[in-house]
Amino acid sequence: MQKRGRFITFEGIDGAGKSTHIAGTAELLRQHGHSVVCTREPGGTPLGEKLRELLLHERMHLETEALLMFAARREHLAEVIEPALARGEWVVCDRFSDATYAYQGGGRGLDKTKFEALEQWVHGHLHPDLTFLFDLAPAIAGERIAAQGRDLDKFEQERADFHARVREAYLERAAAAPQRICVIDAGQSVEAIKAQVQGTIANRYL
Ligand code: TYD
Repeated sequence: MQKRGRFITFEGIDGAGKSTHIAGTAELLRQHGHSVVCTREPGGTPLGEKLRELLLHERMHLETEALLMFAARREHLAEVIEPALARGEWVVCDRFSDATYAYQGGGRGLDKTKFEALEQWVHGHLHPDLTFLFDLAPAIAGERIAAQGRDLDKFEQERADFHARVREAYLERAAAAPQRICVIDAGQSVEAIKAQVQGTIANRYL
């Protein structure tokens, strides 16, 4: 039987700067001979990308938002993540269920026991092997987003206190799962962050 691939996720408040490091991680893994699938949530499948468009731009009941996040995730697992891992490929994913706990739980204030039930239903058997949490003060993240000068989505338009609650919820999850979640100080230089992310992966797996 082929060895299952690894599942690595990247998390953090909007503007924390994960994107560059996701691409760099995929490159590092490929250099070591692994096949890598790079994907994102919400999204990652044709249906998931349609749900993403709604989730990022349409006003909806807050529980509808949480349920659609998990619906998109169910599709993503079935169509992309599980088949890739079963083929022995590595999956590098921009956000996963930790984001629902942080945004819909911390940010929106929904009861996390509901997510625990949904998580059990949707992926009780499968969790990320390693998660990088890019931690940054919301004020700095907000400045970075503003400097990009583009239209903001529904979450990016939320006030600073929303992002502060998202950050706190992420840090609580990291404290509860220190083996899986590696907290990165996203205020460091790109080079320092790259060294920490890639060093962690190399130490564990390469
Ligand atoms: P992201 O991909 O980081 O956006 P960008 O392309 O602008 O970098 O994330 C999309 C948004 O979706 C982000 O604001 C967080 C939010 N989100 C949730 O609220 N809950 C979730 O479960 C997920 C996966 C994302």
